[in-house]
Amino acid sequence: MSDHEAQTPATEGDAANPCENCEANGGKGRRGFLFAAGTTLLTVGGGLAAVPIVTVAIDPGEAPNPNRWISLGKASNFKPDQTVFVKFIMPWSSPTDGETNQNACYVRCVEPGKFQVFAINCAHLGCPVEWFAQSRLFMCPCHGGVYYEDGSRASGPPPRGLFEYEWRITDGNLEVFAGRLPGLQEGP
Ligand code: FES
Repeated sequence: MSDHEAQTPATEGDAANPCENCEANGGKGRRGFLFAAGTTLLTVGGGLAAVPIVTVAIDPGEAPNPNRWISLGKASNFKPDQTVFVKFIMPWSSPTDGETNQNACYVRCVEPGKFQVFAINCAHLGCPVEWFAQSRLFMCPCHGGVYYEDGSRASGPPPRGLFEYEWRITDGNLEVFAGRLPGLQEGP
């Protein structure tokens, strides 16, 4: 068998359409189809991968913003000489946070226009304290820490009084600076 005879012979299809996969043949060939399909898949896949980034980029309102004042409602709703438990939504929350986006504080109205806003967490190890109006004391269920109504330490293991939120009145609303939890850095 000669070298010429050893080569693969042309098929009938090749003979009838020798440039089946060529762009020059109207771009309808198998190679053209595979190229178009691959390009389409890459484009769609790339678009889907970009969705989360685009979402963040076009919705800056959902971006974390810890420097936020939170309204707790009309200041006049808080009665002098009363301490009440108030829930609020954390300023850096997102719709996917569920119940974990909630926080709470105790608001003590000392007199009209004058407040103390306490973090609910005990200054010992952070358990939520409870307000007992009859005894006018905050008590911690974990290790027996007790605080007076002004938040100062009364007894037990807490080394100091309750932490307090910074507050202000804006347009008649009592607001607390809830961007950061009050702690030793925030002091009073
Ligand atoms: S956590 Fe409140 S007394 Fe320990």
